[in-house]
Amino acid sequence: MFAVDDCSAQLTWRASPAEDLTIEVGDSVAHPLASPPVQLVLDAPGRARPLDPAWPAGAGSVVLDGLSPATTYDVVATGRGVPRFRAGRLHTLAVPGEHLLCRFATVSDVHIGERRFGVMGRIHDALENPAPDGAGPGEPYPVRALRAAIDEAVDWGAELIVAKGDLTNRTTPAEVRDAARILSASPVPVEAFLGNHDNKQGVNSRAILGEQGLAVPWVPYARDLPGVRLVLVNTVDGDPRYHRGQLPAEIGLRAVRLSAESSGPVWVALHHPPELHRFPTVHPPGVPFGESRHFLDALVAAKPGAFVTCGHRHRNRRYDYGPIVISEVGATKDYPGVWAGYKVYDGGLVQVVRRISRPDVISWTEATRRAMNGQWQRWSPGRLDDRCFAVGWAR
Ligand SMILES: [Fe+2]
Ligand SMILES: [Fe+2]
Repeated sequence: MFAVDDCSAQLTWRASPAEDLTIEVGDSVAHPLASPPVQLVLDAPGRARPLDPAWPAGAGSVVLDGLSPATTYDVVATGRGVPRFRAGRLHTLAVPGEHLLCRFATVSDVHIGERRFGVMGRIHDALENPAPDGAGPGEPYPVRALRAAIDEAVDWGAELIVAKGDLTNRTTPAEVRDAARILSASPVPVEAFLGNHDNKQGVNSRAILGEQGLAVPWVPYARDLPGVRLVLVNTVDGDPRYHRGQLPAEIGLRAVRLSAESSGPVWVALHHPPELHRFPTVHPPGVPFGESRHFLDALVAAKPGAFVTCGHRHRNRRYDYGPIVISEVGATKDYPGVWAGYKVYDGGLVQVVRRISRPDVISWTEATRRAMNGQWQRWSPGRLDDRCFAVGWAR
């Protein structure tokens, strides 16, 4: 089980032993289509082999809706030649309030322009080469992942999408233009800010994004939705040689002031996670410890119920700083390949991180789980309660 919220659950698999799969959760029944086995292409384009050669069907995903909150369900599966069996058990989240006020979503680390993944870029996209029937190459995997993430988040009900930085891979003008065009084609409004990968080579990515209608201020700014204020904070370091972020005191305090000026709850987004220890223990480093502590202490004093979310590390985690809950959400384009949905209630917030389920995306993100000798699949996804949880506003 990859994702759960107060009324739905997402189940995903890397391979299936049966082609006619049926999955039942409570009264919800799904018949997901079998996809071809995932192809792993290591070291050179064209050198493809099945990732799980013993399994007849490949990676997939199904969402079961209409579940009751705070309820435990058995997940029952069956397939051709496979009798019904209990495949797992799930527990839906409690609803943190009486009224749902809005829904929005985030995408992080979309890295338009990336061509390969893993140490030394060993993992190639099986769909990168022209198909044998003469059809041209498909869209590159970061493009497929971002388009599908937007489509799936909007289908889920997102009224706005926030792109949390690392829109590109190397900040070439073509990458920035492609990212801007895809984001601005979204059927719902988009807010975006930069990551460290969008500030290289002296390219003015903000100007190119602006030409496509995506204004990206350097200074923190706010957008109000029903029931919540979004505060969007740029942490890009002025020196593009570094991965780390920056949050000078005056910028951090400006973000805190924007938060304090709202009479209601506040959701804060940054690209770089705040470092909570004097010496960074996780790579890549985030906002330096001193600046992070200064910002978070001021935010705790002004708005103790604030929720903070970040990208940059391509992993899913949840941790606390005093009363403040902080989440890191993974990339769209590498395992597990996700977007995050937020349901805003009068009493709190639900975060649900879902895998992008489009077949030509999940087949790629499944292949990337093999990065770093298979360590990526253990590091990146986090636990279910790192990804999906409900928090109350009053803390
Ligand atoms: Fe990134
Ligand atoms: Fe980053």
